[in-house]
Amino acid sequence: MTEQEQKYSYFQTEPIPAHILERMEECRKKGMTVPDEKLIKRPSQIEGIREASRINTLVLDAVAGEIREGMSTQEIDDIVAAVTEQYGAVCAPLHFEGYPKHVCTSVNDEVCHGIPARRRKLKNGDIVNVDCTTIKNGYYGDASRMFLIGEVSEARRKLVEETKKCLEIGLEAAKPWNTVGDIGAAISKYAHSKGYSVVRELGGHGVGVEFHEDPFVAHIAKAHTGMVLVPGMVITIEPMINAGRAGVSIDPYNGWTIYTNDGRDSAQWEHTLLITETGIEILSY
Ligand code: MF3
Ligand code: CO
Ligand code: CO
Repeated sequence: MTEQEQKYSYFQTEPIPAHILERMEECRKKGMTVPDEKLIKRPSQIEGIREASRINTLVLDAVAGEIREGMSTQEIDDIVAAVTEQYGAVCAPLHFEGYPKHVCTSVNDEVCHGIPARRRKLKNGDIVNVDCTTIKNGYYGDASRMFLIGEVSEARRKLVEETKKCLEIGLEAAKPWNTVGDIGAAISKYAHSKGYSVVRELGGHGVGVEFHEDPFVAHIAKAHTGMVLVPGMVITIEPMINAGRAGVSIDPYNGWTIYTNDGRDSAQWEHTLLITETGIEILSY
């Protein structure tokens, strides 16, 4: 059996527990959106996703240990590539829909999908998001962190901290049998209370067996709407929070990098998490 066939075989050999199926049926009868059974990961798959996520966290730890002023974003790419290989894993971004590098590095007004480059050196006062996704035995883990370079202004430091708080508030809302909309409602309420705006065009996602699976996890949404969070689902929460207006655009030259329209700063933090019967398990951070 190939790796691909193996990871899908568990949908046949490890069925969803009956009490979960019953509760899903109750939700369906109430008119709620219930996930396809393919989105509910089985024990062997969860083990694989947990391992990919563990390695992904170690890759980010390696970046955290080396990132510094004067380093180019290409050097971050080199670290991510080398450390991932050391763990016998693969960087998911490379060649994903034509993406050219191993990692995304998004500086200041870059919202996400910044492309590492030799000429892009990290300067004193920059804030940078490093977003890693690791594939191990066909399974995926996805996380990102912000790094402060040198002496960072109070405004930037606060944006980074409050964006982390937005992720934490999203994690608190991600309770089993809540909905995806509860996550975005909680995050956007907090972000707006701090005077920030929330990027709408990009969001979190199901993850684990593929890079991007359903559901789309909006970071601005209405409570009690969207897909029910069923134990066994693996999703990311990855709020992109802007200091100024919410509007963003894609780089017309590279077709990837997302910038704020007003040129003001943006921050993002991302975790991969498993919905369990009693809460959540953070798999990658
Ligand atoms: N890691 C990003 C996410 O959180 C996706 C990056 S896609 C890439 O979903 F091709 F730009 F790497
Ligand atoms: Co990511
Ligand atoms: Co993601």
